This record gives sequence, structure tokens and C-alpha cells, in this order.
Amino acid sequence: MTILTPTNNTGAANSGLPDEAALNRMASEFFALVPGAAQAATQFLPSFSQGNTPEAPPSARTLVHDSSSAQSKPSVPASGVPQNAGSSIAPSRPQAGGASSSTPYYFVGQEHGYPIADNSLDSLAAQGTGKQSGASAFNVPGQEQLQRILGELYPATSATSAPAQQAGGSATQPAYYFQQGEQDYWDQAPRAANPSLAAPFDINAVRRDFPILAERVDGKQLVWFDNAATTHKPKSVIDRISYFYEHENSNIHRAAHELAARASDAYESARKKLAKFLGAASEQEIIFVRGATEGINLVAQTFGKKFIGAGDEIIVSHLEHHANIVPWQQLAVEKGAVIRVIPVDDSGQVLLDEYRKLLNSKTRLVAVTQVSNALGTIAPVHEITALAHAVGARVLIDGAQAVSHLRVNVQALDADFYVFSGHKVFGPTGIGVVYGKKALLEQLPPWQGGGNMIADVTFEHTRYQPAPARFEAGTGNIADAVGLGAAIDYVERIGLENIALYEHALLEYATHGLKSIPGVRLIGTAHEKASVASFVLARYETAEVGKALNDEGIAVRSGHHCAQPILRRFGVEATVRPSFAFYNTCEEIDRFLAVVRRLANNRK
Ligand code: ALA
Repeated sequence: MTILTPTNNTGAANSGLPDEAALNRMASEFFALVPGAAQAATQFLPSFSQGNTPEAPPSARTLVHDSSSAQSKPSVPASGVPQNAGSSIAPSRPQAGGASSSTPYYFVGQEHGYPIADNSLDSLAAQGTGKQSGASAFNVPGQEQLQRILGELYPATSATSAPAQQAGGSATQPAYYFQQGEQDYWDQAPRAANPSLAAPFDINAVRRDFPILAERVDGKQLVWFDNAATTHKPKSVIDRISYFYEHENSNIHRAAHELAARASDAYESARKKLAKFLGAASEQEIIFVRGATEGINLVAQTFGKKFIGAGDEIIVSHLEHHANIVPWQQLAVEKGAVIRVIPVDDSGQVLLDEYRKLLNSKTRLVAVTQVSNALGTIAPVHEITALAHAVGARVLIDGAQAVSHLRVNVQALDADFYVFSGHKVFGPTGIGVVYGKKALLEQLPPWQGGGNMIADVTFEHTRYQPAPARFEAGTGNIADAVGLGAAIDYVERIGLENIALYEHALLEYATHGLKSIPGVRLIGTAHEKASVASFVLARYETAEVGKALNDEGIAVRSGHHCAQPILRRFGVEATVRPSFAFYNTCEEIDRFLAVVRRLANNRK
């Protein structure tokens, strides 16, 4: 969402901006018109755009069992020279109010001066968003009022041009969501075929926030359809990490000096953002880890070691990524526990009735993915959790593929543990989160020793910190935690509801296109799906399809996706897996479909 931000309108970014007082006045006017937002609008700050294949462990006792490919990767040509890498809403670091000349950007704010955008116009506008498409979803003021404010902000360019209509937007869609870019990623055909494909945010401006999307691969414009493997980073995240190293870098908590205070504040501020993002009751329920895999291992090594014993049962679903299988197998082998597997139907949805039959008084833990990385299935984790709790079992939800696509509220889900990786939600690699209910975390032993996890150490005995510090031994990935906080800011400004709506339209468009190609078999056709369109093409190896796509600059993952059991359930060892994010477009899907169609037509 990029409306109304002085730095995100290419035409107005560098000239003719009103002064701060005028901005504050106009912002106040705007917020006064946004329901529920008036209180937050005290100051108008600049808007900041802002494979593993584990070795098989000794076999655990598994009641529903799948037995066991390396997948060659297409060769990746050298990238071209970055082009057009400027961000449409890149941080224009504040030039005024700097604490000193050496830290010119260091001024107000919860993050020791790094200007955060929680009260940005787009964030507040998005808060009112329901599930409808179009402007009404934002509860923004009427077009007339908005145009007047925009006119004052951008007298020269008037951001209210009408490309929405030009591009096939319905008459009721306000034009101001669609800026005139040098490239319109929304071609006429798909939007005419499916009007719901209108993005509820400015897709061109959003794309400009991701410098890497301007990359070329062998002269072809990069199309990034490997979002389930990792997502790209907006300029605001990249800049936030740079800012940390330029102005805040220090270890945390340990030293009574200024930079330690800045680093600690930045790190703890990120923890607060993560707590809010997940709907946690407190930031003390947020543990920073390397990623979802480490998070699941943490739970296995703490909760598992303490509460799971011989004969106890752990339930996983057939959809799981290896990361949510292997740690439980390892634990089961060590403890003599049993792993049971919820089967799926032929669409790839978990069978709740079969799940009910697996639950019993020996069930200690149910560990399930919310969204399948291989099929895209959205599992009914709410029901799964409630049923587990009914027999006294705890629930871990693997949200690695969910958090970038769906609004998550761990309290509404009543999850005991929830894990995800930052790099799947537009944040850096090497940082992720374990959410755990506070009362439960306090019962758990630490899993690694050293550093800030201690309260007191003698040679005889160690007392530990409460959660979350108890689970964060050693120096954490401070800068990337801060970067993840910036990624959350960015995603929140667009709004998960808007993202879900738009990505659903992309998925439908891609699915419809794939279905029309002879020889394509979709793997994973559940009614509830997010972002993934796995398929195989008759008489082609998946790696061949991946290579043909790569030759056209289109990045997909082809292989087993670290989820071999679920692929084998469908009789395949590998699929081609395009996976979408909110910066993708129908035009990109058309390019992708053209390659698959060409292969199908030239069948060997
Ligand atoms: N889990 C990541 C994927 O699905 C690596 O591609």
C-alpha cells in the first residue's frame, strides 16, 4: 500500500514536497477521515518501504509410514547489471533532528531514532481492511476528499491519474491505487477475464520497493516464482540492516554504553513487532531462532525432552516438511515414542475424521504445518488444535509458509507453539521465531547453554533467565532480527488481508492456465490453498521444466521440496513448484504459462 506517501510517488519524490508542518496538517486531516486512526496520527513520519535434505535417522516407530532424490538444479546464468533499482518508497532518512553529525539519522522513535512507520498512512488505512477488494476495503475517505489531500501533496503530478480504468479496473475502483508506471504489469487480458485480479494496492510501486525484481537473467527480466523457498527483501529491510550496522551495532544487554542501548532497543523493538504480528499476549512469548527448522528443534529438545516419554505419541500430518518430521523421529528414537501421521485426501487436504481416530490419551503433541510448502494446502489448524487440546495434547504449528500469506493470530488459534522463518516473509535469512505460551515456556528447560540465558553461574550450579532469554544462548542474530522487524512493518503496511486476496487471484489465474495445458497434472488441488501451484508435465523431468523456465528468466523450484512423504503420496518424487508473492503479476504468469505450453506442444 503506497498511497499518500511523499517518497513513493515517483513524480513527486524529489521535488515540490510540502514542508513538515504542511505534511503534519494534511496527515491529521487524512487520519481524521480514517476510522479509528485519528489517535495514532500525532506525527507524520516519512513512510518507509520500509533445502535441506536431512540424513535419514534410525527408523522411529511410525504407524503410518512412507519409505524415501536428489534433484539437479538448472544452471543459473550470471545476472545482468542491476537496473532501475531505486525504491519508490525507500527510506528518505530524516535529515533533521540528528543527535550528532556522526549519526545524522539518529533522532526520535522507539528504535533509538530509526524512524519506524507504524503510524504511516498506508498502515493505518490498511487496518480497516476487510476481505473485499477495492478501495472500500481500506475505509479510506471519499475520493473527493482524498483527491483534495493528494492534490495538495502532489500538486504537479496529481497522483489521481486513471490507469486503473485504463487497465480495466472497474468504475468503482478508485484510481488512486494505480499509479502510472513506466511499465504496467497488469495487462488487459487477465483483468478483463477476472476483474477480481485488481490489486488492492499499487503493484507497480510495490515492485519498485524490491530492487532485485529489476534483475535480468541472460537478458530476460527476472520472474521470481520461488517464494516458497525464499522471498525477496524490500529496500526498507535492506536499509534497516545497513542502518543498524552504521549506527547501532553492538552486542546487546551486556554493556552500559550507548551503542549497546541502541542495539538492545532495536532488537527488543523487533521482538515487540513480532509479538504484535502474531497476536501473542506478550513479547516474552517470542524467542528468536535461526528459522523454523531450528524452532522445531528447540521445541523437540525442550518440550519434547521434558514431556514426551516411552509409548507417548506425536502426531504429524502427511503434508509436513522434513523439518517437522525429522526432529520428532529423532526424539521418538531417543525416547521410545511413536509417531502417527494424519492422512490426506486426493486433493491434499488433511482428513479430520482420520485425525480424530489418531487422538488418544497418549497423544502428547500434534505438530502440523499451517500451509504445505509442496502443495500449498491450507490445513484446518484451528480445528486440529481444538481437537488436540480436547485430549490434553499440546500443539505446534509450523507457520513457515503461512505468515507471508495469511493473517495469523496465535491466541485465536490457541497454538501452544508457532514457528516461522524470517526469510519467507520478506525478512533476512538466519532469523526466525518461536512463539510459545508464556506459562508453557516457563516450564521448559533450556536447550543450549551460555551467554544471556543465565541468571547466575557457579561451578556447582546455574540459574536460568525466564523466557525468552532462557532460550537465546550466545549472541543472537541481532541485525537480522531488526531487519525482520522492518519486514513486518512492510507487510503490515500492505495488509495481510490485501495480500491474501491478491495472491488468491494470482493462484487462481495460474491454476486455470495450467489446467488448460495438455499433459499438466496439478499436485495439490485442495479447496483451501495458498500461493503454490505444484505440477508435473507428462514426458518431462521436473528439472527439464525448471531449466526451460530458467532459460526465460523464470525462477521456480523443481524437486522434492524437502517434503518427500507428501509427494510420494501422489506417486511422484518431484514437482515443478511456482510459488507466488504479492509482488508477482498476471503478466509474469503469462510468461510462465507460455513456456510450459511450448514444452507441452513440443512433447518429446
Ligand atoms: N522449505 C523451503 C521450500 O519449500 C526451502 O522450498
